[in-house]
Amino acid sequence: MKRLISLLKRSAAVVAVGLAVVSLQPTSASAAAPPVVGGVRAAQGEFPFMVRLSMGCGGALYTQTIVLTAAHCVNGSGNNTSITATAGVVDLRSSSAIKVKSTKVLQAPGYNGTGRDWALIKLAQPINLPILKIAETTQYNTGTFTVAGWGAATEGGGQQRYLRKANVPFVSDATCKQAYGSSLVAAEEICAGYMAEGGVDTCQGDSGGPMFRKDNAGAWVQVGITSWGEGCARAGYPGVYTEVSTFAAQIKSAAAGL
Ligand code: ARG
Repeated sequence: MKRLISLLKRSAAVVAVGLAVVSLQPTSASAAAPPVVGGVRAAQGEFPFMVRLSMGCGGALYTQTIVLTAAHCVNGSGNNTSITATAGVVDLRSSSAIKVKSTKVLQAPGYNGTGRDWALIKLAQPINLPILKIAETTQYNTGTFTVAGWGAATEGGGQQRYLRKANVPFVSDATCKQAYGSSLVAAEEICAGYMAEGGVDTCQGDSGGPMFRKDNAGAWVQVGITSWGEGCARAGYPGVYTEVSTFAAQIKSAAAGL
């Protein structure tokens, strides 16, 4: 099971690259299963830090020149000018989209497909938009989270043109282990979703995007990075996210050296 899941995880970005961004938006939210399974469309400017990466993943602006994404979305570390980051729009086809190339990638040191699913992408030019600060302690690793992305609307479905969002409740490690057993790296991963009923989740192509909530001052703070799950939105199988607080110090020092 573990091998299958991580295989799915690693192949997801590759699969997404081949998919054109095609979607005919329903005229009402109920007309079709929305992307970020069970979500709704995000408003323009609602999540200004959201980034779409050209390999078919999501990301968030960690600084105006660094995107935080998932390790499984990139191939390794080093100079890399092949990635395009699209930001500033919910509609990926908008003529006002900001598109910036990468210069470097830093994949989490020691990443081997299990846990520590984070990476940084350095941009060729700054993107002048609000950033998403990351959780530096465990205090926000609870409650209700927001997830967003241009990924599949349904398990096996296509990538989306318009950014979608959904809310998902925190799932404890103990409960998440009922789904995933020892495949869950509890110290490095945080789960979210509706364990009993499913129906709302991230999905293929949402990987690397942020899971976030409001902090005590009312500001968005990133607690997770979309990583993996068994299918999408299945009952009994929550979404699994990189636990950002665990890696906050490493991310900070890696970013400083990028
Ligand atoms: N690994 C997927 C990707 O590369 C994300 C899967 C998230 N799955 C889930 N059930 N929450 O896009």
